[in-house]
Amino acid sequence: MTHKTAKLILPGSRGNHEQTIELPILHGNLGPDVIDVTSLYTKTGYYTYDPGFMSTGSCSSEICYIDGDKGILLYRGYPIEKLVESYDFMDVTYLLLNSNLPDQQQKNEFVNAINFHTMLHEQVINFFQGFRRDAHPMAIMVGVVGALSSFYHDSLNIHDPIERSLASYRLIAKAPTIAAMAYKYSMGHPFIYPQNHLDYATNFLHMMFAVPTSDYKVNHVLAKAMDRIFILHADHEQNASTSTVRIAGSSGANPFACIAAGVASLWGPAHGGANEAVLNMLHKIGKCKNIPEYIQKAKNKDDPFLLMGFGHRVYKNYDPRAKIMRETCHEVLEALGIKNDPLLDLAIELERIALEDDYFIERKLYPNVDFYSGIIFKAMGIPTSMFTALFAVARTVGWVSHWNEMVADPRQKISRPRQLYTGFKVRRL
Ligand code: SDX
Repeated sequence: MTHKTAKLILPGSRGNHEQTIELPILHGNLGPDVIDVTSLYTKTGYYTYDPGFMSTGSCSSEICYIDGDKGILLYRGYPIEKLVESYDFMDVTYLLLNSNLPDQQQKNEFVNAINFHTMLHEQVINFFQGFRRDAHPMAIMVGVVGALSSFYHDSLNIHDPIERSLASYRLIAKAPTIAAMAYKYSMGHPFIYPQNHLDYATNFLHMMFAVPTSDYKVNHVLAKAMDRIFILHADHEQNASTSTVRIAGSSGANPFACIAAGVASLWGPAHGGANEAVLNMLHKIGKCKNIPEYIQKAKNKDDPFLLMGFGHRVYKNYDPRAKIMRETCHEVLEALGIKNDPLLDLAIELERIALEDDYFIERKLYPNVDFYSGIIFKAMGIPTSMFTALFAVARTVGWVSHWNEMVADPRQKISRPRQLYTGFKVRRL
């Protein structure tokens, strides 16, 4: 991949003479070239400095590509718009894990292999009893996913590809079961076991809303919408939670611990917690007439209020997922016979006003994937506190894919960034 080189002229400092070094420029298949600074410190005694990684590539990867300026999102080279049109979440899961879409036989075998692991060890159920009924579902997911490493000792050896695959399937299969159990626990309802004749999204909604006292038929339109939402949330390059999983995995930690770290990072309102924050924000704004006041608050640097569901580190154009989510919103509300949802009307008006405002235009702040998801989830009867847990269910596929890619890379080293030290110099006691 090495292509040209970058010349760096460094002034003499701390006894070093002025020096010029050449750094390799690496050329990917898509996107910006990168300057390989691996040897910078050994050659010059300088570190790079990039808090928040605004201009830093942490790894090479073949899984997901985003063009933020053009609003393009590819999973293993396939545009997200095409995948949601003709494939389901298990197709996309297979694609992210294996680089190619499955043929019918591969799909059937894969779905059966995942379904084999949808149940939890019965003793994990006791683990739930330790939580308060009002525990946030993400607190339960962090705890239970991490605890899986104490139940599945036959899939902890990260150097064994068979054990890596077993752990990957277990995590993907059990994520919806854990999320649905977190919801049932909060409701004081009995847990509903997975029904493996149902597809992934239908099975999840069945575990969420079925009760033992009567048959429950999942609305096909809602199941299709949930499946599409899972696809949209499955992966997104080196986002904060995926980077967390990679860094945790770089120490050799077991896969369950690494994915639990990803769940923890996703929880933040600047990341996956934004879908819950969007709905809370819309409730706070209440009416369209209050929108200008909140737009002003979002622009006021002295006010911590941000327009949740807006802005993105990478997308400086409309998030392609937000467009599909907005279409899905209309489909779900129609399927549920909800003629005019005041929250959706408010969201559409808020988006219209923001996108005409110079502050948002100059900063290229557009709706992101989280802006509409909460409205859909609410219409489906899913409580706000469960929104990020649903994001975590879908993103488990991306986290597991990146974890496998990193662990299988023979060049992989422990991630150990340095710093610009601004603390005390040596002091005498
Ligand atoms: C996800 O990384 C991923 O890929 C994430 C994700 C995924 O699939 O994994 O796409 C999922 O996390 C989507 C993002 C969800 N978060 C939100 O909706 C929360 C609201 N958005 C902001 O917190 C913010 O936009 C971020 C965190 C998403 C991005 O922050 P950046 O890239 O660090 O940008 P920034 O904070 O430097 O903002 C640049 C400017 C600043 O103003 P100035 O200092 O230039 O004057 O834009 C302003 C910010 O104040 N700004 C906002 C804003 N977002 C940025 N102002 C008002 N409302 C906002 N939402």
